[in-house]
Amino acid sequence: MHPFANTGKAMRERMVVGNWKLHGSLISNKTLLDEIVTGMAGVKGMHCAVCVPFPYIFQVQFALQGGEIVWGAQNVSQYEKGAYSGEVSASMLRDLGCSIVIVGHSERRALYGEDDAMVAEKFVAAQKGGLIPILCVGETLEEREKGITANVVERQLQAVVDKAGMEGFGRCVIAYEPVWAIGTGKTATPQQAQEVHAYIRALLSEQNKGLSENIMILYGGSVKASNAAELFAMPDIDGGLIGGASLDANEFVSICKAAAKVA
Ligand code: 13P
Repeated sequence: MHPFANTGKAMRERMVVGNWKLHGSLISNKTLLDEIVTGMAGVKGMHCAVCVPFPYIFQVQFALQGGEIVWGAQNVSQYEKGAYSGEVSASMLRDLGCSIVIVGHSERRALYGEDDAMVAEKFVAAQKGGLIPILCVGETLEEREKGITANVVERQLQAVVDKAGMEGFGRCVIAYEPVWAIGTGKTATPQQAQEVHAYIRALLSEQNKGLSENIMILYGGSVKASNAAELFAMPDIDGGLIGGASLDANEFVSICKAAAKVA
């Protein structure tokens, strides 16, 4: 069944996650899901997942349950329950068969005021509720140009270590998404991405070598069928978090196959 069903742990394998962001409708989702399911039939050696808007999780559960593709949300409340209008808890997502949730996406950090501490709380809440968080980290263009990419990524990770402990990293996936590459068509080169992925793994390795070797680190930012294989060929890139290209079944399935090929 799905990769985390029995163990509750993320092992280092290949994974491609579609982040639909604020897109979709019942009708367009149905076509997209049907085409993804058909396209993914028989693809082995990687895990495929979609993170969809809250109202469509039920539809996605119906379409994907019993198969190999897993599903999740793009955000989760840091709270379990209470007077928090408009929020959705981890246990609600579990109720609808979600196994993963994106936390700390740069769009949430930049547009909805999520700071490092809040992202860390969401990370912990996701795990407590039985979900695998996909923790997004990454620098803005300004930060890259100032030469502080490593500091930014370290700060973002450290906030989660402080809150969740290193044990927390045993049950998560990390996504490195340079903000300047998201939705811009400007992909990081495989070398640029690899450099940061290796840095993240080395940072975690200082605290727990075994864990750092097992953790999946996905790259996100303008991944397409045409550039996926070269990115996934890098030693520390374990797959991708895909925005725009995940809305096109052919593109998305090709990206998944590129991850499977080099597994
Ligand atoms: P794009 O693939 O559209 O650049 O988006 C990347 C992303 O933000 C995935 O979470």
